[in-house]
Amino acid sequence: MSPRTYFITGSSRGIGLELVKQLAAKGNIVIASARNPDGAEQLQQLVDNKKVFAVKLDVQSEESVKAAVAKVNEISPDGIDVLINNSGIIAPKGSISTTTDPEVWGEIYQTNVVGVVRVTQQFLPVLRKKDTRQIIQISSDSASLELANRANLNAPYHCSKAGLNMFSRCLSHDLADEKFTCVCIHPGWVITDMGGSNADLTTEVSVSSMLKVFEKYTQKDNGWYGNWKGERMPW
Ligand SMILES: NC(=O)c1ccc[n+]([C@@H]2O[C@H](COP(=O)([O-])OP(=O)(O)OC[C@H]3O[C@@H](n4cnc5c(N)ncnc54)[C@H](OP(=O)(O)O)[C@@H]3O)[C@@H](O)[C@H]2O)c1
Repeated sequence: MSPRTYFITGSSRGIGLELVKQLAAKGNIVIASARNPDGAEQLQQLVDNKKVFAVKLDVQSEESVKAAVAKVNEISPDGIDVLINNSGIIAPKGSISTTTDPEVWGEIYQTNVVGVVRVTQQFLPVLRKKDTRQIIQISSDSASLELANRANLNAPYHCSKAGLNMFSRCLSHDLADEKFTCVCIHPGWVITDMGGSNADLTTEVSVSSMLKVFEKYTQKDNGWYGNWKGERMPW
């Protein structure tokens, strides 16, 4: 596949950092964003300002997202091929539907849903400059209503990821005429600060598998929801 220009949110650690590493190793241009890029040591080791660039972005701040768009327009005046909305947060364990403070729900939604809406809307003009026009949401199996068949200990997170999936589904319809490809992918249960140390997959395995799936996306996949192995998932 010919090299592409990617913009990624939440690149300071975990899955986002590994996406930067592997996409750059394949010869792509990667604009990696983080809330505090200067303090993200592992990210800084990848930055060369030729193929890997670091940009400050907090998805909760309109001002920050606008400043990031301006920076991306300087770095890549011809636009970006792919936006990867990766950043995400989870509520404390035990956040069940009956008792969890609505303030906690608000905080999770601000990052996992509203933040993604904000970034996506602001980046649409940058994506429209190219023909590739892919928007990839790093979703979760926690988003699936059909798979939610037992008591769950992180209701705000599950609901937010379901909201993210619906946002992606709406986008897929609203941008279909402009030939966008809007998809949601579950990365697996991955060893990160969020996934914990008992998870199934390393970031290396999760991301290398996801990249094989990304490489096959065409506009026919617009509206897709699936996992790191490329299997469709039930909504
Ligand atoms: N790990 C898993 O098993 C798993 C499973 C399913 C889905 N996922 C999804 O995969 C994505 C990445 O998760 P991860 O496991 O890599 O988590 P992680 O290690 O906790 O990393 C989360 C990333 O999101 C960033 N972030 C948080 N709030 C942000 C904000 N307001 N603005 C910008 N960036 C923000 C963090 O930045 P800071 O360093 O500044 O905090 C960090 O870079 C998430 O969307 C998560 O829901 C993960």
